[in-house]
Amino acid sequence: MISPLSLLDQLLIPKGSRVVDIGFGSSKELLALSNIVGDAGVVYGIERSRSRVKRVEVELGVANVRLFAGDAIRMPLLVDSVDMVSFKGVLHEVKQIEEALLEAKRICYKGGRIIIVDFSSFPMTWLKQSNLRWCLRHPWKILGSPPDLHAGFGREQIHSFLEKAGLRVERYEESVAQGGFYGHPVPMFSATSIVYK
Ligand SMILES: C[S@@+](CC[C@H](N)C(=O)[O-])C[C@H]1O[C@@H](n2cnc3c(N)ncnc32)[C@H](O)[C@@H]1O
Repeated sequence: MISPLSLLDQLLIPKGSRVVDIGFGSSKELLALSNIVGDAGVVYGIERSRSRVKRVEVELGVANVRLFAGDAIRMPLLVDSVDMVSFKGVLHEVKQIEEALLEAKRICYKGGRIIIVDFSSFPMTWLKQSNLRWCLRHPWKILGSPPDLHAGFGREQIHSFLEKAGLRVERYEESVAQGGFYGHPVPMFSATSIVYK
């Protein structure tokens, strides 16, 4: 995916923050966030793949990170309990985007931030090809949905998803990093929303 550190630096996350990393995938970003929020802060990692959660649990070894196996649309966190929710490289895999954003808004306190970093739009044929390869590798899953569901997102799409969840884009930046979708270079965007309640 993309370098987590350079982007995290830009977010200026204060020490003591409570942040959620949805679809963390590996320990890399969690460790960087753990360092940024410090001992007074907490990082909650939500990941739908149980095997990834187990692997990262073994690797981590830091006290201020708590991991949960679960889905972005139903997080085991209280209303108004966190300062920032990050969807980095995950939304293109999420079927119920609006529900996931509403859930992020629920757990985020007033004035908190929701950050989306993902692929900008890319050709649908790349998505179809990668899904076909995935189905050939996992023929027993042929009736389920493949992991990648969206061929990236255009600016208007992201605005519309956030608007439907009662959020608005505070800051939108294109080409914040260069991502790769199965060998194809794809620029990535970041969108930041402040939660008003
Ligand atoms: C492409 S990886 C990105 C990993 C990491 N955030 C990064 O940027 O390198 C997407 C991750 O999101 C997880 N994921 C996909 N849909 C999810 C959902 N609905 N809820 C929680 N995690 C999800 C996947 O299991 C995968 O680990």
